[in-house]
Amino acid sequence: MSPAPPACPPRTRTSDRHRLFWRRSKGWDAHVRDLEQLADTPGFLRLRQEIIALARLNPDDRALDIGAGTGLLTLAAAPQVRHVCALDISLAMCRHLEATLVRDAITNVDVVAGEATDLPLADGSVEVVLSNYCFHHLSDADKRRALNEVGRVLRPGGYLVIGDMMFRVGIADARGRAVIAHFAGKMLRRGPMGVVRLLKNGLRVLSGRGEHPAGVDWWRRALEDAGFAEVAVRTLDHEGGIAFARWNG
Ligand SMILES: C[S@@+](CC[C@H](N)C(=O)[O-])C[C@H]1O[C@@H](n2cnc3c(N)ncnc32)[C@H](O)[C@@H]1O
Repeated sequence: MSPAPPACPPRTRTSDRHRLFWRRSKGWDAHVRDLEQLADTPGFLRLRQEIIALARLNPDDRALDIGAGTGLLTLAAAPQVRHVCALDISLAMCRHLEATLVRDAITNVDVVAGEATDLPLADGSVEVVLSNYCFHHLSDADKRRALNEVGRVLRPGGYLVIGDMMFRVGIADARGRAVIAHFAGKMLRRGPMGVVRLLKNGLRVLSGRGEHPAGVDWWRRALEDAGFAEVAVRTLDHEGGIAFARWNG
C-alpha cells in the first residue's frame, strides 16, 4: 500500500475584516498627489487653522490625527505638542508622510497604518484627537464605532476636533440640496468631463459606495450618545463643518 499523501498545509485565510482593510487601504493609495494638492488649497488651510485653534494644544499633549493623509493637521500640531500619532488606512499616505517627517527632521510623530474604527492605541493614552475630512468616508455605523474608540483612547477631559463635510446627501436636507446643486453646477460648467464626473459620483452614491457625510444634528447626537460633553457643531460657508467635544471620561 502506498503511503498516505502528506496533509496539505491549511490555507491561510484572510479574515473579512482584513480583506476590507486592504481594499479600503489600496483605494486611497493612488490619491497621495491629489491629496497633497487639496491640502494646499485656501479652504483646507483655513480649516486647519480653525481645527488647531479649537484643539487648545499644550506642549505636554499627546495628539492623535485620524485619517492623517499627507499630514495637514499632523505637521501643524507637531511643533506645539509632545507627540503626535498620525493614523491612516493607506500605506502610501503613511509612507509619504514618513518621508516628509524625515525630510523636515520632525522626530515627535509616529505614523501608524490603521483604521479609525479600531485604534491601535492604549486606553486614555492621548489628550487630543484631531481629524480632517476622514469621517465622511465611513458609514454612519462606523463613524459611531470610531467615536467610541476616540472616547476609549482619550484621557478624561481631553478634546476631540473634527473637520468634515457636514450635510446629508438627499432631497430631505436643505443644506444637502444646496451643496449638491452647487457641486453639480460646478461640474456642468466644466463641460463633457464634468458631466462624466457628475454621473460617476451619482452612481457611486446610489450604489452606496460613495461618501457618507452626516449633518450637524447627526453629529451632535452621535457625540452626545458616545459620552462626550460640551458638544459644539457648526457649519462653515462651504460644504464643511467643525465638531468640537470634550471627553467626559
Ligand atoms: C480626504 S483625506 C484627508 C487627509 C488629511 N486629514 C487632510 O486633511 O489633508 C482622507 C484620509 O482618510 C484616510 N482614511 C479613509 N478611511 C479611513 C479609515 N477608515 N481609517 C483611517 N483612515 C482613513 C484616507 O486614506 C485619507 O488619507
